[in-house]
Amino acid sequence: MATNVNAEALKESPIPEVAAHTGKQTVDPYNVSGGVDANGVQLAIDYSKLIEEFGTKKIDQPLLERFERLTGKKPHRFLRRGIVFSHRDFELILDRYERGEPFFLYTGRGPSSDSVHVGHTVPFEFTKWLQDTFDVPLVIMLTDDEKYLFSEKRTIEEVQGYCSTNAKDIIAIGFDPAKTFIFSDFDFVGGAFYRNIVRLSKHITLNQARAIFGFNESTNIGRIHFGSIQGATSWASSFPHIFGADEKKTTKIPALIPCAIDQDPYFRMTRDVSARIQHAKPSLIHSKFLDALQGPGTKMSASVDESAIFMKDTPKQIQNKINKHAFSGGKETEEEHRRLGGDTSVDVSYQYLRFFLEDDDELEKIRVSYEAGELLTGQLKAICIRELQAYVSGFQERRAKVTDETVAHFMDRRPLQWVGNPRVTIVVPQIVDGEAAAGEGGDGKMTKNQLKKLEKQKQLEAKKLQKQKEKEEAAAAAAAAAAAAGKEA
Ligand code: TRP
Repeated sequence: MATNVNAEALKESPIPEVAAHTGKQTVDPYNVSGGVDANGVQLAIDYSKLIEEFGTKKIDQPLLERFERLTGKKPHRFLRRGIVFSHRDFELILDRYERGEPFFLYTGRGPSSDSVHVGHTVPFEFTKWLQDTFDVPLVIMLTDDEKYLFSEKRTIEEVQGYCSTNAKDIIAIGFDPAKTFIFSDFDFVGGAFYRNIVRLSKHITLNQARAIFGFNESTNIGRIHFGSIQGATSWASSFPHIFGADEKKTTKIPALIPCAIDQDPYFRMTRDVSARIQHAKPSLIHSKFLDALQGPGTKMSASVDESAIFMKDTPKQIQNKINKHAFSGGKETEEEHRRLGGDTSVDVSYQYLRFFLEDDDELEKIRVSYEAGELLTGQLKAICIRELQAYVSGFQERRAKVTDETVAHFMDRRPLQWVGNPRVTIVVPQIVDGEAAAGEGGDGKMTKNQLKKLEKQKQLEAKKLQKQKEKEEAAAAAAAAAAAAGKEA
C-alpha cells in the first residue's frame, strides 16, 4: 500500500521504499506523509512526534513573550497559532538581536513548476514578516540544480526557466529590494560560495548522508552531494558582497532559517559541520504544512488543480474550489449539524482561516459558533472564500508590477542595506556602497563617516518608531474615549 499521497514526489524519491512499505509517518525533504492507519486511510502529520524525533524545541509562550518584548511587535499569527511551531536555537538569534549583533535570514525554493499555490507562500509570508521585524539581510536560494537532480524527466533548461517566474512570485510577497538577494544555484555557485560547499562536503561521509537522507547504492551522486549546496547557503561567508570578504568576521554571523519542517535534515547536518569547523551554526524556525483541499493528511500538488488554491486563480475559481472540494467538518444534514456541531480540527475552510484570517477574535467566534452548530458549512465556506480571494488578489496586484528588471535587480550581486535593532547602538557595520568589500566588512571597524551615517540612520529609525508609537497610543486613547462616550450615551 503506497502511503505517500504525492505520487510525483514518491517517484522522484531516493527512498520510496520507506514511505511505501511501512505505512509510518515520514517527513524528510523528499517525502512528506503522515502514514496510513490499518484501513489504509491517510493520516495527518503528528507534529509533536516530529519535535521529539528531530530533537527540536517547541515554540512556547515564554519565547514568544520575549520576542514581543525585544521587537515591540505582536508575534505573527502563524506564531500565535502554532503554525510556525518548532525551532532550533531561535533564542540565540534573539540574544543577538538584543545586543545588536548581526545575523541574516535564509530561505529558499525548489523551482519545480510555474504553479505557485497558497501553501508555497506560507514560509515566504513569514520570512517577509521576519525581515520587516528584524531589519536584516535575507538571501533566497532557488535550487534549480536540486530540482534537476531529483527528477527523472526535468531538463536543466526547464528548471532554469522556472527560476525567473518563481523569483517573480517570491518578489510579489513583498520583500524589500534593499535587503534581499535572490540567487539560482546554476548561476551563483563559484567563488566563496563554492569554497564553502566543498568545506561542507569534506565533512560529510557517505554513511552520514545515507543515514540522514536514506540514500542507497542506486542514488545518483549529485543527489548525495546536493546537501552541501543547500547547507553552505547557511554561512554568511558565502556572500562576501553582503557581509564582506574577511572570513574571520563572517564566520561568526549566523543565519536564521525559516522553513517547512521537512527541510530540517539538511540543516541538522549543516549545524553539525558548522560546529566542527568553527562557523556559526544556523538557527531554524519551522512551519507546518497547509493541507490540500481534500483534508488532513493530504498534500497540495502543483500539478493537481483541484488539490490547491493557486496564486493565479480567479475569484470565481477560488469560490468553486472551496465550495466543491474543501473537505468539511460539518454534519450530513443541517438538522444534525445544528444539534451536534461541526469539527473544526478537520474542516479545511476553518484550517485555511487559521492561516489567513488575521483577527484572533473573529477566528475564535467562528470556531465557537461552528462547533456549536450555529454557523453552517456553507457560511463558513463563504468566509473562507472571502479571505482567500482577498489574499490572492492582493498578491496578484503586486505580482503584476514585477518586471524582468525587478528580478534582475534582486538577483544582482550587490551590497545590501539594513539597520538591525534600532534600539541598540550598532555593534557591527554594514557595507555602505561596497566600501566594506574593500576590507571593512563583517564585524570589522568602520570609518568615522560610516559610523556617523549609521548612527544617523539609527536615530531616524528610532524617531520613526517613537512617532509611530505615539500615534498608536493616541489612536487607542481616542478609540477608548469614543467607546466610553458610546456607553454613556
Ligand atoms: N530544498 C528546498 C525545496 O525543494 C529549497 C530550499 C533551499 C530551501 N534552501 C532552503 C527551503 C532553505 C527552505 C529553507 O523547496
